[in-house]
Amino acid sequence: MTAPLTTAPTEVRFGDGADLSAALRAVGYIADDTFSVVVHLATALDRPLLLEGPAGVGKTELAKSLAAVSGRKLVRLQCYEGLDDNRALYEWDYAKQLLHVQMLRDRIGERMAAFDDLAEASRFLAAQDFGLYSETFLAVRPLLEAILSPEPVVLLVDEVDRTEEAMEALLLEVLAEKQVTIPEVGTFTARSAPWVILTSNDTRELSPALKRRCLHYHLDYPTPERERDIVVSRAPEVESAVAADVVELARVLRALPLRKSPSIAEVIDAARAAVVLRGTGAAAGLDGIRDILLAALLKYTSDVDLARTHLSGAASAPASGPAATAPPERVTVASRPANTTTAVFRGHGGSGGGTGRAHGGVGSARSARS
Ligand SMILES: Nc1ncnc2c1ncn2[C@@H]1O[C@H](COP(=O)(O)OP(=O)(O)OP(=O)(O)O)[C@@H](O)[C@H]1O
Ligand SMILES: [Mg+2]
Repeated sequence: MTAPLTTAPTEVRFGDGADLSAALRAVGYIADDTFSVVVHLATALDRPLLLEGPAGVGKTELAKSLAAVSGRKLVRLQCYEGLDDNRALYEWDYAKQLLHVQMLRDRIGERMAAFDDLAEASRFLAAQDFGLYSETFLAVRPLLEAILSPEPVVLLVDEVDRTEEAMEALLLEVLAEKQVTIPEVGTFTARSAPWVILTSNDTRELSPALKRRCLHYHLDYPTPERERDIVVSRAPEVESAVAADVVELARVLRALPLRKSPSIAEVIDAARAAVVLRGTGAAAGLDGIRDILLAALLKYTSDVDLARTHLSGAASAPASGPAATAPPERVTVASRPANTTTAVFRGHGGSGGGTGRAHGGVGSARSARS
């Protein structure tokens, strides 16, 4: 049906994880060593990569950055409850089909005039192939677009856990066989090998069959060092001391039993807000800026209340260590006592223990969280 799968001569490939990591860094995406190696393996082996982890840790961004560094087009399938074949794969373009038939109408009429008998005319029509069920009349959706593309693409299947399990059967054919079957037309085999990134927030368990076909990596909150790098990379106007303070505040908050822990995107926003506040002079008081930072970092009133209680309790505790001498206008939580939240609460959106895990054909490398 289609030309066999080939590797384009100009296709960008990466030598190893370090090579890929450097390329990603150049477009502002900061990946740790283990994660870079896993992503490199997925690209080298053309295996789909399933990224699971909390909101805002860079799952979607990885696919976008991978497309940017490889020069591939990003084809995105955003999953949601009720997603069906018509939105994921293809549907027939009825308007185009109708137009086609209307343009043929006069010619068909001339031919039909030759028949006196209605049944005979009907049989004649039924035997005609008007070409309506061919590739020309397909409205191509993301999965089919990735399969039909002559140039290799990055296919992002985002938030796959939001769809019903039935959708997974469709994904399996695409991921495992790199093909799509359309009953009226036949089977389309991939014209190039897409790099496939699937993301999940773990709201439901994905089927073992789907997991088996993917390399799997649990992307967690970054270490403070990497998060500082990310903030400075995404918001170069933020001084490293400010980035360090906001990152430290986020680290303390993530250990609390919050409804929603601050994501990296919120940390970047908070760091930007801190810079603006310092510029306007509004940041003179620690309490004033801390409250505004909490508004940028947290999205629920109950979380803000909990954080305030925790931080004010910590602030009133006897200060010790180098951070206790920090100037009052700087936001710093380094002087606060270590988090005392029990691990039981961490499942409610906290850091959850925080080690990365990779599975599926690459052994079980544990993230160095560097
Ligand atoms: N490793 C990283 N390097 C650079 N920026 C990052 C990184 N991780 C996250 N970010 C920043 O955080 C933002 C949010 O990341 P992203 O949208 O990829 O999160 P996500 O894991 O897909 O979250 P969700 O599960 O809510 O969709 C990005 O737009 C980017 O600015
Ligand atoms: Mg996402």
